[in-house]
Amino acid sequence: MTVPARTLATGLVSALSATTTGHRATGSTGPSSAPTDGPARVVIDLDLPGTTINRHLYGHFAEHLGRCIYEGFFVGEDSEIPNTRGIRNDVVEALRALHIPNLRWPGGCFADDYHWKDGIGPREQRPRMVNSHWGDIVEDNSFGTHEFMDLVELLGTEAYVNGNVGSGTVAEMSQWIEYLTRADDSPMASLRRQNGRDEPWKVPFFGIGNEAWGCGGNMRAEDYAALARQYSTYVRDQGGDPGNQVTRIAAGASDDDYAWTEALMKAIGTLKGRESKPSPFQAISLHHYTMSGPWGDKGSATDFTPQEWYLTLSRAARTEELVARHSTVMDRYDPFKKVGLVLDEWGTWWNVEPGTNPGFLYQQNTVRDALVASIHFDGFHRHADRLVMANIAQTVNVLQAMILTDPDSGALVLTPTYHVFAMNAGHQDASALDAHVLLPEEPAEVDGRALPMISASASTTGGTALVSLSNLDVEQARTLVLDLRGRSVTGHSARVLTGETSAAHNTPEQPDAVAPRALESVRDHERGLEIDLPPHSVVTVELQLGD
Ligand code: AHR
Repeated sequence: MTVPARTLATGLVSALSATTTGHRATGSTGPSSAPTDGPARVVIDLDLPGTTINRHLYGHFAEHLGRCIYEGFFVGEDSEIPNTRGIRNDVVEALRALHIPNLRWPGGCFADDYHWKDGIGPREQRPRMVNSHWGDIVEDNSFGTHEFMDLVELLGTEAYVNGNVGSGTVAEMSQWIEYLTRADDSPMASLRRQNGRDEPWKVPFFGIGNEAWGCGGNMRAEDYAALARQYSTYVRDQGGDPGNQVTRIAAGASDDDYAWTEALMKAIGTLKGRESKPSPFQAISLHHYTMSGPWGDKGSATDFTPQEWYLTLSRAARTEELVARHSTVMDRYDPFKKVGLVLDEWGTWWNVEPGTNPGFLYQQNTVRDALVASIHFDGFHRHADRLVMANIAQTVNVLQAMILTDPDSGALVLTPTYHVFAMNAGHQDASALDAHVLLPEEPAEVDGRALPMISASASTTGGTALVSLSNLDVEQARTLVLDLRGRSVTGHSARVLTGETSAAHNTPEQPDAVAPRALESVRDHERGLEIDLPPHSVVTVELQLGD
């Protein structure tokens, strides 16, 4: 097989140097492949299960941004679109099928402008506000705390509520958690009851501000770290209910700002032993987006060259490097990995679709986005010892969405990214298995990074194993051997996601242009299985395991 990326990439390195960081992979922190004389292989020891892949790595994010909350999730009771208390039934049904483990809300940047008391009580009496970050439009607060927690319950997911540090008070944040989670007749629990909800909700995750280095207050790392300690202190576990304990997530770094992570770890204190004092926050976030150009011109979602295809996939692979390196910083202060790393914003960020509001971040979603997602998941599985949660940005109609809705007809389309989440759902809470990629060719060098043309990961639940394979080659199919060791394989089935072109995508007219199909080209092989992967494709193989 020829690997065109290698030659394409050589030109790219200099052509794109103005938009790169100059950061080079070491090979130990990202996807890798080893050379082999034989056929391409992915070697998996089925009898050596490792770290549990936290289901929260498949988390989601819904912000008051563009058509995500309004139109995407919430259409109001009077809408012709079938709904339950204003929440779209078709969106709920599609997301329930993904088993989404958590949903982050209300932002993003919006969170540090949001005052939760404006979003409770009778809708017609709720004050309005300006959503200054996203389109400078007026927000009527008709979707607030009760509507969000209703959505969480309809989805069968868990709440990740993001508090306001940038323009909110400590008391406001403290009262929000009391309102949400307290059972007795405390002032905020009583207020919740007046507004129609008797039982407290469970809120396992609470964010202490968002992007404090930017839209969340333009703070310096040490200044925010002090505030994070203070605010976290008042996000109390309420009423001694052990089932309602909150994991507080401090607003973390962007990209490779390792100094920010270090400042937060210093603020926690050194956690040398297992008996160290409880830290004021239990996790630290990280944000990283994938784009093929600079911020001012991030690239088109659907109109891209092969060079931009490889550049994008290389940048997707960079996320794993960032996770590994932030984790290394954390290791210095927390060798037992008690503090979680939470990548609570990730995904592609393209130029908005022509003719749409630039502040609404509406973009199409192609086979390329599917590969970006699968590369991320492979990296997440390899770093599941530190990375405890990740949230794709965002669930509906914004950035790398699962679902796009038509503004005129309201029709719903599932994106290629949706299908990657569905195909990978079996990794949630499974035990990671090492998947060693052996390829006859050297990896391509793209954007200063070694980029093998196969990405892979695997996990097991005991009786079954799930293997994820991506063929990054935009033009060439690839036959590879799944070299399965340690256990017998008693059955298998495989699915493939691809499109006629790498830019194929779904529309209301062609909703299944990119949809998973059964993969028939799986053959028995003396080492395990032999599989044909089409070009630009994502494949999952489910294995039934014997002894
Ligand atoms: O996801 C869109 C925005 O990206 C979020 O509001 C912000 O946190 C980030 O900059």
